[in-house]
Amino acid sequence: MTHTPLPPMLRRPDDGTAPGFAYGADYNPDQWPREVWDEDVRLMREAGVNVVSLAIFSWARIQPAEDTWDFGWLDEVMDLLHAGGIAVDLATATASPPPWLTTAHPEVLPVTQAGETVWPGARQHWRPTSPVFREYALRLVTALAERYRDHPALVAWHVNNELGCHNVYDYSDDAARAFRAWLRSRYGTLDALNHAWGTAFWSQRYTDWEQVLPPRLAASHPNPTQQLDFKRFSSDALKEHLRAEREVLRRVTPEVPVTTNFMITGESRAMHYADWAAEVDFVSNDHYVRPGPQALDELSFSANLTGNIAGGRPWFLMEHSTSAVNWQPINRAKRDGELARDSLLHVAHGADAVCFFQWRQSAAGAEKYHSAMVPHAGADSALFRAVTDLGRTLRDLAPVVGSDRSPARAAIVFDWQSWWAVEQDSHPTHLLRYRQEALDWYSAFLALGVRVDVVPLGTELDRYDLVVAPVLHMVPGRLAKELTGYVTGGGHLVTTYFSGIVDENDHAWLGGYPGPLRDLLGIRVEEFDPLPDGESVELDDGTTGTLWTDRIAATGPDVEVLASYRTGEQAGRPAITRRRVGDGSAAYVSTRLGADGLTGVLARLLDAAGVTGELPEPARGRVELTVRERDGEAYWFLVNRTDEPVELPGVTGEVLAARTADGWDREDGGDGGDGGDGGDGLLVLAPRGVAVLRRTPGAP
Ligand code: GLA
Ligand code: GLA
Repeated sequence: MTHTPLPPMLRRPDDGTAPGFAYGADYNPDQWPREVWDEDVRLMREAGVNVVSLAIFSWARIQPAEDTWDFGWLDEVMDLLHAGGIAVDLATATASPPPWLTTAHPEVLPVTQAGETVWPGARQHWRPTSPVFREYALRLVTALAERYRDHPALVAWHVNNELGCHNVYDYSDDAARAFRAWLRSRYGTLDALNHAWGTAFWSQRYTDWEQVLPPRLAASHPNPTQQLDFKRFSSDALKEHLRAEREVLRRVTPEVPVTTNFMITGESRAMHYADWAAEVDFVSNDHYVRPGPQALDELSFSANLTGNIAGGRPWFLMEHSTSAVNWQPINRAKRDGELARDSLLHVAHGADAVCFFQWRQSAAGAEKYHSAMVPHAGADSALFRAVTDLGRTLRDLAPVVGSDRSPARAAIVFDWQSWWAVEQDSHPTHLLRYRQEALDWYSAFLALGVRVDVVPLGTELDRYDLVVAPVLHMVPGRLAKELTGYVTGGGHLVTTYFSGIVDENDHAWLGGYPGPLRDLLGIRVEEFDPLPDGESVELDDGTTGTLWTDRIAATGPDVEVLASYRTGEQAGRPAITRRRVGDGSAAYVSTRLGADGLTGVLARLLDAAGVTGELPEPARGRVELTVRERDGEAYWFLVNRTDEPVELPGVTGEVLAARTADGWDREDGGDGGDGGDGGDGLLVLAPRGVAVLRRTPGAP
């Protein structure tokens, strides 16, 4: 049987089908008796599932002993899936080493900062730098690749699983050796390392490479640059593992694309995914909703960043949840409409695949309370009906597959290095959260109904009219030049407190803050003054600042004070400034205003940059608009962010799918039935509803 249509990223040269969304899940048949497998395939077909990620945690089953292999069951599953028209994203199965391996080779087990062994019992208990682990892992990858190279179900390789989820920081002797090698290649000489690490401080000067260690448990604050380099190294070490598995796969199956699931989600920060993206044939991401007032904004932010890390090209949503997870303190079920809305918001930001963890909810094990496509209740459940419904919606949206993100006019710059550096210890405040500040700006854009791209640092900025670089803490000289060039070229730059403070070695810039951005911003800060938790200051524009204040002197020409402090130690001094530079400008926000406070400030900054929202006024802030495009055609995704119906007066286009007040309106005649516009041209989104419109240029 040929596969149901798949997105171009998964298609084999001989596929010959029209593209469609990938829809599916992690599939763990080895947790179930044989008779369940037939029902699985039947239900997958019913739900519209056309791809599964298989064998992610199957090492112990595939290789029960060092020289014993058991592929029989996997052959059968692969054949069954293929017969059912379901394609396979086959895992390399290296995520969780089996007990026989860790018993024979305890030297593969990671070591914590305090020197404790991380024992088996959960998963991912392996050192990224262990040569022994690497050898066993690559043997397994080779065996799998050679066995399934010609299997018709195989459409992609899934390297390991969420590399670094549990094992990114390992302080073992293997790690120490690899860290030294990494440092030698970064610095060349010990002198250069001593300079970069500032080892004149606290008698830390190294005279032999063997003296250099990971930042293990220490008596007081460990050397900050050592910590930062260890973060860089640890991300690189896992990237090396990814490359090592990928090289085996590319050698045996050069035509099969290789991916690994990133974790661009929440506060997950240790892997520098912007730097990893070039290592995979397509970007995949796992996202889980964090409860709270910005839950949906955070989903959108993560999907947006993922899409831009993928270079605006389609990417693969490898995992999210149909409903509750099991690993938060309290695990809420998703509410009506959220399963589809959350999925389609990822699609809106460029996903060509919607997959879940996992297909069938486990009966045993640590994740038995984690939702799945088939819940404990079975297929006769509202959840499975919602899953099937989403499968249908994705088929309606097939024309969107393969289209790119349509760039916005504004961008938020996201920088892993600043994230790492700014949240280290022994800083002015331990309360600063880099990603939260970026997310607050993003929420302000959403509230104003203005599209924005969340882009990794290094993205060409010239295409944007306005660029916000919140807490851009680490600014090497060349970056300062680039930002200055952007502004003198007519761009509008916005940055914030604790930006431009250190160079790439985490050494403070001297002469006043914000270091190399001082002239550009036309301000000088001699001292910062963070606020204790719970304390706030009023600004004269009616906003309230927390976390941070700066003692700012406006020093440059053409500096406008947009708001001043009204209360607190800095009362009467500038709080928000903007310097005009030709047609461009450089603005600075010196305190944390939060999403609400930033909304007013951002409105003024956008106004000056001439950037406006594209939606009609009543929908702005309540509906998120994202746009995908291909060959001159635009696909508008309209996502109702509220729990109320929202009208979209004047928004027109061919409705590919819409969940309106009357239910799903579909190409193939859904419940809405009349074009989703109530017959009078007015599109009304259901609470948490989504509409996707095809629009041709020039159309109203
Ligand atoms: C991650 C893992 C999955 C599963 C889910 C649970 O995404 O990759 O194996 O543990 O979390 O949310
Ligand atoms: C102590 C130490 C100093 C310095 C200060 C910082 O007094 O003796 O070396 O670390 O703390 O407050």
